[in-house]
Amino acid sequence: KVDPAKEAEQIVHIKALLKKHNAAIVAHYYTDPVIQALAEQTGGCVSDSLEMARFGKTHNAQTLIVAGVKFMGETAKILTPEKRVLMPTLEATCSLDLGCPAQEFSDFCDQHPDRTVVVYANTSAAVKARADWVVTSSIAKEVVAHLDSLGQKILWAPDKHLGAYVQRETGADVLCWDGACIVHEEFKAQGLLDLKALYPDAAILVHPESPQSVVELADVAGSTSQLIQAAATLPNPEFIVATDQGIFYKMQQACPDKTLIIAPTAGSGATCRSCANCPWMAMNTLDAMIEVFDRADNEIFVDPALAKRSMKPLQRMLDFKR
Ligand code: 13P
Ligand code: SF4
Repeated sequence: KVDPAKEAEQIVHIKALLKKHNAAIVAHYYTDPVIQALAEQTGGCVSDSLEMARFGKTHNAQTLIVAGVKFMGETAKILTPEKRVLMPTLEATCSLDLGCPAQEFSDFCDQHPDRTVVVYANTSAAVKARADWVVTSSIAKEVVAHLDSLGQKILWAPDKHLGAYVQRETGADVLCWDGACIVHEEFKAQGLLDLKALYPDAAILVHPESPQSVVELADVAGSTSQLIQAAATLPNPEFIVATDQGIFYKMQQACPDKTLIIAPTAGSGATCRSCANCPWMAMNTLDAMIEVFDRADNEIFVDPALAKRSMKPLQRMLDFKR
């Protein structure tokens, strides 16, 4: 249970620490609203994973505090090696990253030398180093369409649902690794249909890490930033949202008069307030943030040779669309 007085005290304390250490918070839309608000109020950024990757270069902070999951911290370190990159905890990982071990992935690539290797940002630095391209969900479709227009066949990893979505949208020849997000995989088409019956005027917004049967019901499928943009522009009075509920903080700012409803996950009934919350994103707490400068186990280091190799496909992503 939140103690508002303690929370306010912690926020004042963290703001002073950020100033003292010339540090900025880079937070993902899925983190706790209190962390997103702190990032906003202290000149940091709150964004999708693509803009998180871009942020470090444009900001003069010496230290970046990445409030997200580990691959986001690694990406920040690879792109800005001159900065210190800390995370509230390095235990914050991602099922996609965990489900794609570097050696197995490299063997898979070796079996398909005729394919261009495109990996989702939700991977380790070692997996990125084996790729030709890195993409986030904001630009996955465009990059694959571009490669398809050049006649290239794609090896995609690790998210099979996002890979299948990109394949359907572009018509490209895509061979997928078998990975999934434990949060998005829980959304169920029947649950969405039941909810839509209760809110017939609602638009359904879906992150394409969800299964095909759920994506097919979407009025808009897209990355976190694209879903927020859709909520800001669509005329519907309600939005049923199939992604992590942390997104509601920014989405509600974008459409203050609209009602946001979290899509049901397996076994959650028609509406659910505690579902769809990434357990690793939830590790970014104020308690962890208070200790971020004192711990000895939360700095991101990437081997320079590995960083050099993973920088190439990452830089391609950043250059593809500015
Ligand atoms: P976005 O790139 O859409 O922000 O998604 C990141 C993520 O981890 C989705 O689960
Ligand atoms: Fe990974 Fe899914 Fe969590 Fe995103 S929501 S960080 S894809 S486990």
